[in-house]
Amino acid sequence: MNKSIRVLFISGSGEDVENIQSEMWNWGFSVVSERVSTYEELRTELKTRVWDLIISDYAIGQFYFTEAISLISGMDNKLPLIVVSDYKGEECMLEAIEKGCSDYILKNDFKRLRLSINRILKESAVCSGHEKMMMECFEDNKRLLDTLDSIGDGVIITDKKGNIIMLNKVSQACTGWMQQEALGKPLSSVFRIIDKTSRLPAENLQDKVLMQGKATGLKSNTVLVSKDCTERYVSANCAPIITEYNGFAGAILIFRDITRIKRIEDEIINEQRNLTAMFDAAPVGMLLFDQNAAIRKANSTIYYIAGKEPFKQSDNKRIGDIFKCPNRNNCAEGCGYCRECVSCGLNIALQKACSSDKIIINSDVQHTVFMNEDNMKLWLRINSVPIIIDTEQHTLVIIDDITGLKQLQEELKGSNEELQNALIELQRTQNHLIQQEKLAGIGQLAAGVAHEINNPLGFVMSNFETSKNYFEKYKRILDAYRYLKDELLNLGDKNIEIKISDINDLERKENMQFITEDLEDLFKDSKEGLERIGKIITGLRLFSRVDQQNDIAEYDLNEGIQNTLIVVNNEIKYYAAVEENLQNIPIIQANGGQINQVLLNLIVNAVHAIKSKGIEEMGLIKISTSCDDKFIYCCIEDNGEGIAEDNLNKIFDPFFTTKSIGKGTGLGLSISYDIIVNKHDGELQVKSTQGVGSSFIIKIPIHE
Ligand SMILES: Nc1ncnc2c1ncn2[C@@H]1O[C@H](COP(=O)(O)OP(=O)(O)O)[C@@H](O)[C@H]1O
Ligand SMILES: [Mg+2]
Repeated sequence: MNKSIRVLFISGSGEDVENIQSEMWNWGFSVVSERVSTYEELRTELKTRVWDLIISDYAIGQFYFTEAISLISGMDNKLPLIVVSDYKGEECMLEAIEKGCSDYILKNDFKRLRLSINRILKESAVCSGHEKMMMECFEDNKRLLDTLDSIGDGVIITDKKGNIIMLNKVSQACTGWMQQEALGKPLSSVFRIIDKTSRLPAENLQDKVLMQGKATGLKSNTVLVSKDCTERYVSANCAPIITEYNGFAGAILIFRDITRIKRIEDEIINEQRNLTAMFDAAPVGMLLFDQNAAIRKANSTIYYIAGKEPFKQSDNKRIGDIFKCPNRNNCAEGCGYCRECVSCGLNIALQKACSSDKIIINSDVQHTVFMNEDNMKLWLRINSVPIIIDTEQHTLVIIDDITGLKQLQEELKGSNEELQNALIELQRTQNHLIQQEKLAGIGQLAAGVAHEINNPLGFVMSNFETSKNYFEKYKRILDAYRYLKDELLNLGDKNIEIKISDINDLERKENMQFITEDLEDLFKDSKEGLERIGKIITGLRLFSRVDQQNDIAEYDLNEGIQNTLIVVNNEIKYYAAVEENLQNIPIIQANGGQINQVLLNLIVNAVHAIKSKGIEEMGLIKISTSCDDKFIYCCIEDNGEGIAEDNLNKIFDPFFTTKSIGKGTGLGLSISYDIIVNKHDGELQVKSTQGVGSSFIIKIPIHE
């Protein structure tokens, strides 16, 4: 295999160069060469390319090899230089060696040249072993360099001291260094990298590679500062070049401008941060569940609701880890693990959400007490949306703490009920007032009428008595006249007989006998009638008791019943018979007007029930009174249509009526209940069988 060598000729003759080159080829060298003939050319060539050897003429015009020597001596890498000269002479050779040449050889003494080159190559550290082979390789294979130039990554190769021996186009563009300027420079001065935040130089890659003996990369956040101070984020990999013979021969750095990627990365991170901030700041608890109801993500609010410190890692937690389950004592693993726990509304709701492919809205968790850290009862509202994340079915669950709302609702319900009750009470009071007002009016009217009738009735009755007495007197006188008439007839006087016969005719004609007899009956009937009128008037006055409408006074229930019956007699008499069974009961302290009103309501209801039954025979109303130590009782029983079972608990409600409009107001029993129960500390009970009849029992305490 040919040994690769890069030779720079300082020569005035192209032919000489070709001769040497062809000889070298013969010796097995693969020669890469360049010929310069001026000092300037030499300088440029030395700057831009790497050489293994210089073969120089002794002089080209005024340009002496010594100038080349002094140029080389200023370089880091001292190049070996062989002078090939026409001048044969000890002095010239000594001068050359003295000045630092590697050898002095006469032109065409190729044999010596070959020996010299071989010696130099052996001695030369620069061109030793694999480094040289590397160079050979690069030089030999221009294509590789072209390839390196065409790739998108930056490639920089250094020698074992860390000086650059190659940088591709991308590297040149990124560092701002041209190949010629960069060659031979230490890596750190061309590939200037710093930490973006601290602005401190990043670790020297070459050193690190040397130290570790293996490939190394850059920390993220490292930027490459180019010559014009442009900064680029870079990622890099620096690997040692190990040669077979000499071990570490240099390093190859491959880097990439990741500024755009970094920017996108930053944007993604920012976006992610924003999303997380939004997720956390949402005023509702948010949880992402997988199909097994395990939590994949939880926002801060959910912990706030549960009164818990957020778990650092919420992955794989269950809902029971966040909310205390009241049944956790019955189940070792607590809520969210125990699928069978039927009492766990939250768990059930979440499972429903996780297994559903539909959106669930406003499913309130009820009947389950969830505890936060303060053992507060919580009401949770659950909304859920199925979503696909990483191709797998997940469920986003939104949990809202609606405890406050529920409390408000409860409070609202409470005050609503209070309002409702107040309204009913108001209605009742209003109706009662209206009714009482009416009653008082009717009572007053009745009392007034009774009073007005009572006066004329008084003198009519007394005139009647007087008239009856007068009639007795007339009758006695008439009897005396009749006796006298009989006596006169016995005298036998014809004239008298005629006169008496005229009188008898007149008597017959006027029907005097009948009149006299009938007058007796008339007086008897009229007396009865007048007495009845008197009773009714008294009944009316007593019933209305207008004087004590709102007062408590002594009251005889039996008397009350009698008076009430007088007043309603007209209502009853065509439909029902009244059977009274009034026991001897004590007088009580009561508002007589009001109790009479109750009796009237109950009796009228009984008559209505009998009428509604629609049967031909007369109905029967049984009214009885009784007492024990503490109470007096009155039972009013009818055999009317009875009350449907469904209605039994409604009949005391104001405005409940089964009667047609105009006939029933639905107020009678509610007022009666109020009078007996609230005003007299009593009870008003009902028993009824539909189709058979009803009985109402009034029970009033005696209160000595
Ligand atoms: N003795 C009774 N027999 C059958 N139903 C009755 C009787 N008393 C009351 N009720 C029922 O109770 C309802 C309410 O009675 P009430 O409060 O007096 O109002 P109203 O008589 O104006 O309907 C009546 O409409 C009727 O349905
Ligand atoms: Mg009624």
